[in-house]
Amino acid sequence: MCGIVGYIGEREPVNVLVSGLRKLEYRGYDSSGVAVVNAGHVQVVRAEGKLTALEEKLKNQKLSGTIGIGHTRWATHGIPSERNAHPHTVDGVCLVHNGIIENYIQLKAELSALGATFSSDTDSEVVAHLLAQELKKTPDIFKAIQKIIPRLEGAYAILAMWEKEPQRLVAFKNGPPLILGVGNGECVVGSDVQALLSYTDKVIYLDDGEVACIEKDKYVITDSLGKELNKAIVTVHWTSQAAEKHGFKHFMLKEIYEQPLAVSSVLKKYTDLKTYQVEFSSMFLSPAQNTVSRITEQDLKNVERIFIVACGTSYYSAMYAEYLIEKLAKIPVEVDFASEFRYRDPVIPPKSLVMVISQSGETADTLAVLRMAKNMGAPVLSLTNTLGSTIDREADLHLFMEAGVEIGVASTKAFISTLTVINLFSLYLARTRKYLSIDEEKQFVQNLLALPSHMESVLAHDKFFAEAAETFKNYKGFLYLGRGINYPIAMEGALKLKELAYKHAEGYAAGEMKHGPLALIDDKMMVIVINPQDNHYEKTLSNLQEAKARGGIIVSIGTGDDASLKSVSEHYLSIPKSDWMASGILSVIPVQLLAYHLADVLGYDVDQPRNLAKSVTVE
Ligand code: G6P
Repeated sequence: MCGIVGYIGEREPVNVLVSGLRKLEYRGYDSSGVAVVNAGHVQVVRAEGKLTALEEKLKNQKLSGTIGIGHTRWATHGIPSERNAHPHTVDGVCLVHNGIIENYIQLKAELSALGATFSSDTDSEVVAHLLAQELKKTPDIFKAIQKIIPRLEGAYAILAMWEKEPQRLVAFKNGPPLILGVGNGECVVGSDVQALLSYTDKVIYLDDGEVACIEKDKYVITDSLGKELNKAIVTVHWTSQAAEKHGFKHFMLKEIYEQPLAVSSVLKKYTDLKTYQVEFSSMFLSPAQNTVSRITEQDLKNVERIFIVACGTSYYSAMYAEYLIEKLAKIPVEVDFASEFRYRDPVIPPKSLVMVISQSGETADTLAVLRMAKNMGAPVLSLTNTLGSTIDREADLHLFMEAGVEIGVASTKAFISTLTVINLFSLYLARTRKYLSIDEEKQFVQNLLALPSHMESVLAHDKFFAEAAETFKNYKGFLYLGRGINYPIAMEGALKLKELAYKHAEGYAAGEMKHGPLALIDDKMMVIVINPQDNHYEKTLSNLQEAKARGGIIVSIGTGDDASLKSVSEHYLSIPKSDWMASGILSVIPVQLLAYHLADVLGYDVDQPRNLAKSVTVE
């Protein structure tokens, strides 16, 4: 987490830095800061709170120069405050850091013994001190950095400058992303390509251990041993995506409304609209690197087991994938949180495929699983929303969510897009294993093609939740229930409510409710039951009755005009009739709208919920 940006060239750096930070704010937003070198002196402005607080300060403090760095923070060490905000400056050395320096306590003690005094509680400031110390012996920032790198343990992406060498910016990383944008007489560095695209489409992805010494019209990149590298410049074929709300009150609401479009984009990419068959040949190509995978279609056919690993919302899409792949393609699937999987000495037998799902493509634990799986010899399939992200680049096979830029920190359209890709990918696996006839495949695809218009009609529930939120906000807890593919969707519904409305919410398999959560139910508990007309319908209806008998207030989501479900529910929300596969996706929309409107009526920041970040590059 944390977004970093740097600029060297003829433009006013502060303008480039602030507009870059605006695009990176999803990575953290508890404080921010910028620094510029002017006439041999570092000028720094930092502010607690969102980027707007920094912009306010900058109205009164004009910064000018030809080189600068900026940062938007998600606190790890030290509370969110101005003193802990980056950049950190020591004796004219100034740097911004994304990640965690794990041995900072030891380094801090060592530096303190040498007389260093610290002005923040961060792990990052020790790097500035270490560098300042080294510059006394090695007065060349590029060389000094190469000397201190072996002392750093942990994950970091760092941009540094020194007032005595105002023509150079040095970038180095181990873990979190850092990308160099090469412009005409200018260079921009950032945590995400989006921060660079207004200036150039020529980028270099720095790899772990590399150090880049950047001047306005040249750069040198070395490996961890100091050997100069000739890194490929990649031309990115996507444009800077405007973060506009287009009349919506929040980005999240806009993104919920963009979901039919996101699903259409997935269908367009992964189906052949003439034959109504799924089409996954693109998975074997890496568009970010222009390479063809070492893994072939035959290798994929030989796969006997799939591990799916992810975090947060992506983890619930992994749970969903387990149901789909096992049901349709009959391949055993195991799902785990990345943070657990990586440390539990997992057994990955030969002929296994490891699938990692990550909207950002940068989540630290998920990336670690990818690398571990590759080291163990397993092919890795990634499903990301970010072309060129570290996970996308390091995977063997590549799937994309096609959701477009998602600004709201709590994921909505990327989740629905992921479910759509999973639906189609499961059909592909089923077809290649001959568990699906061409006609069955066509039928599934045709049903999915109707999804965008069905989704439009479910969006009409927006009005219901906008009005009901005033009453719903008074409930003390929320229990989300579902069976089969609706169980992960219940989990996701509960997560959305926690993230946005800061309410206690639990997602549960409906059949498990009587083994504990039933004790929580009274008339202050709202029970949201996802019960479309599929083969779990009757059983879920019985579970709903059990909750109702204990006084629970029932909100149910069902198919069409379901009189039985309606009669036992305080509120009934209808989704259009469709097959079981499409209905799972339709059920997501009401739970998103519930969380959105509850958070909004409670006055919370829907797009940037407290304590969270969209890209989690620390463990
Ligand atoms: C953070 C975000 C979540 C997201 C999770 C996993 O916690 O706030 O919305 O689901 O990371 O992110 P990924 O990018 O790997 O899908």
